[in-house]
Amino acid sequence: MIDQSKKTIKILFVCLGNICRSPLAEGIFKNLLEKENLTESFFVHSAGTGHWHIGEAPDIRTQQTAAKHGLDISQHKGQQVHARIFQEYDYVIAMDKDNERILKNMSAQTQNKHAQILMMRQFDPMAPTKDAPVPDPYYGGIDGFEKVYAIIERSCKQLLEEILKNQSSP
Ligand code: 4NP
Repeated sequence: MIDQSKKTIKILFVCLGNICRSPLAEGIFKNLLEKENLTESFFVHSAGTGHWHIGEAPDIRTQQTAAKHGLDISQHKGQQVHARIFQEYDYVIAMDKDNERILKNMSAQTQNKHAQILMMRQFDPMAPTKDAPVPDPYYGGIDGFEKVYAIIERSCKQLLEEILKNQSSP
């Protein structure tokens, strides 16, 4: 739940478990905002479509990969998406088609929504296709997490650029 702060643009990153991809996206995007002095203009969070990891810290491999790049995401607590997100957020960014489908079904049953549901890699300049997934690294080794970090970092940079461009156009 968002506390009604001064932050204007609200972004929610969504994966399945909210312990690997989406908390990493949240950490990377917040770090970009800090570098650009834009922290006060955004509210950024992450959630999972699944319920298994509610209240848990990110996977230890996610935390290690983030730490390698200077990010501390250890304080994040897993949460599950709720229909309210489509009213509260401006952008809901899905990590893959399965999560996008779940979000679109939930959104279709929600009144007074305004969130745009987008795919993360539509912003990745190196994506093979616009609906390519951010691969789920959960069942693989640590190298998969590093690959996911690079994909998310590229995508977040472009996502921020596009949001800022939209904000400045009349
Ligand atoms: P995430 O990865 O969706 O990137 O957080 C997963 C984490 C946990 C599970 C699946 C994917 N799980 O099945 O518990």
